[in-house]
Amino acid sequence: MLRIAVLVSGGGTNLQAIMDAVADGKITNTEIATVISNNKNAYALERAAKAGIPNCCISPKDYADRAQFHEALLAALDEAQVDLIVLAGFLVVIPEMMIRKYRNRIINIHPSLIPSFCGTGYYGLKVHEGVLNRGVKVTGATCHFVDEGTDTGPIILQKAVEVKNGDTPKILQQRVMEEAEWIIMPKAIDLIANGKVKVVDGKAIVEEN
Ligand code: GAR
Repeated sequence: MLRIAVLVSGGGTNLQAIMDAVADGKITNTEIATVISNNKNAYALERAAKAGIPNCCISPKDYADRAQFHEALLAALDEAQVDLIVLAGFLVVIPEMMIRKYRNRIINIHPSLIPSFCGTGYYGLKVHEGVLNRGVKVTGATCHFVDEGTDTGPIILQKAVEVKNGDTPKILQQRVMEEAEWIIMPKAIDLIANGKVKVVDGKAIVEEN
């Protein structure tokens, strides 16, 4: 059984997709051990509570400095004894000590086709604004392992989504979530839980079904 921690900052629709997929059996061999938010008002925490999943808020505001916040976050993850950390809209930079400790055991969902519209400054709606400003016709989402860079780790799954005339950042964000994020994030967890993903020479190799 893969024990996962889901880290969130906001609405938690990706968390919901993961919880639903576990309940429906689309994700197998997996238990959501804990949900952690850096923001006490995140609706994601309520979603976890409604589903009876242990959850807590660890906010940088409650600690004297960043180092103490990082220690508290790591302590909570260690205590929950998780095998995989899932960043589902977690808008906090992950400390290097956590990346080293959980090498190839942290995954993130990014709302574009990496390496386009990613890296520092590209998060949330800003990604979709960038897409619309550039006028690309196809965007999408990427699920990847987290390394020391921003959105630079091995890519596990990607899914393309059409950009349509008249799209606003919000409309596009919703389509990318519905048609890509909520599908590939649960799928990546299921693949990992069933031993179908390995990292070789810095690239993720996904076993075909
Ligand atoms: C999602 O669109 C996710 O891809 C994005 O934040 C949103 C969280 O939504 N993540 C990033 O931009 C990471 N760079 P949610 O809280 O409803 O799942």
